[in-house]
Amino acid sequence: MDRTSLADRALAVLDRNRRGSWTCPAERFYPHQWLWDSCFVAIGLARHDAGRAADELRAVFRGQWANGMLPHMIFTPEVSDAGSRHIWRSRSFPEAPRDVETSCITQPPVAGLAVWRVAEALVGDERRAFLADLYPRVLRYHEWLYRERDPDGRGLVTLIHPWECGLDTTPPWTRLLRRMRGPWWLDVALKLRLSRVARLLRRDTRYAPAAQRLSDDDGLRMLALVHRAQRSGFDLRRMPPERSVLVEDLAFNALLAASNDAIAAMAVELDQPVSEELQRRFDSTRGAFTELWDDETGQYYPRDRTTGALVRLPTVATFLPLLARLPTPEQTERLRALLLDERRCWPRYPVPSVPLDDRRFDEARYWRGPTWVNTNWLVIEGLRAVGDEASADELAHRTLELVDRAGCWEYFSPLDGDGYGAPDFSWTAALTLALLAPPTP
Ligand code: GLC
Repeated sequence: MDRTSLADRALAVLDRNRRGSWTCPAERFYPHQWLWDSCFVAIGLARHDAGRAADELRAVFRGQWANGMLPHMIFTPEVSDAGSRHIWRSRSFPEAPRDVETSCITQPPVAGLAVWRVAEALVGDERRAFLADLYPRVLRYHEWLYRERDPDGRGLVTLIHPWECGLDTTPPWTRLLRRMRGPWWLDVALKLRLSRVARLLRRDTRYAPAAQRLSDDDGLRMLALVHRAQRSGFDLRRMPPERSVLVEDLAFNALLAASNDAIAAMAVELDQPVSEELQRRFDSTRGAFTELWDDETGQYYPRDRTTGALVRLPTVATFLPLLARLPTPEQTERLRALLLDERRCWPRYPVPSVPLDDRRFDEARYWRGPTWVNTNWLVIEGLRAVGDEASADELAHRTLELVDRAGCWEYFSPLDGDGYGAPDFSWTAALTLALLAPPTP
């Protein structure tokens, strides 16, 4: 593998997708700014061009609402696509920014982690100014998450829509989505198979085979859920549990814990400790992970907030708690054994989003089987965090090989490495750069 040429190709993808101070995920498929995509772009660029990485994150925060929320999308005014900004009408909410239109839900809280990684790559006044600007804003985001999404102080944040979890169509989410009692028009549309009409409004299926994307029915259910959440002002407390999908999501909460750790590191550097109340919340999140562990199968699952039951459907998210060193040593061993099992999670190109031996595994379809570079990067960082450098190096090597062979695709077959979804995808390119750089000490 020629590492220099791979880095050049990755940088070229990021340049193509650059839109001034920020980077869109992929030209035709995703022309707006997405929250966690930009965070991964910043992480990847940090050691190549720290100034650009800092700008990418500042652009993320232009979407922050007055209540602290970071929206999952900031829309590009020039791009017209029927399926997106019009469904949110963010400006009807007084807390939303006036100068940009955004969505009204969030996405995994990688911002804290990204701000800290970028700060580590900056020096002197630039570093001080960057942290002084963004640290308080990250704090306000986490305060919003705890205040609005964990109102009972359980330690786990609740998500109100699959788009918030980033791994949108993983089996736990589609199971609950399909069980949701929807509005009457949804039942009629599904029965009459009208959801195919929704295809006309979709961008993704114009450019990629439908078999690689989410189904029209699930797409329609997701839109119905946006409509439902809108009627409740996107306010968890006002959402009717029996007609909603409320999940204490595994990946989201694991990334929350990891970003809480990053906040703690920034607090030390700035000598600005977090409030006692927020520290209590951070501790409660760490503690709550024991409730998501299932000893029988030796892995973590998300929890349905409405029934209080774990949703025992395995996904790659089970490995993300490693990043914040949440599992006990014994749990870590069980997770490592699962990860390195060739019949389940360690085929030629690990890590599949759904294990190979699960009947829902679908090699080419979105979050239902393919390998994604962002989750791989998180697993690699998690393995390093628990001291398994050898497995981390091996996974990094295979991930780079995958991108080198196929290109910067959105996702890949875990079996033969073919690329799927959007070509020239930004976080694949950015995290390739991160994996090519030597590991942080
Ligand atoms: C898809 C992914 C989501 C990502 C977005 C933009 O919706 O599921 O995680 O942020 O695309 O790339």
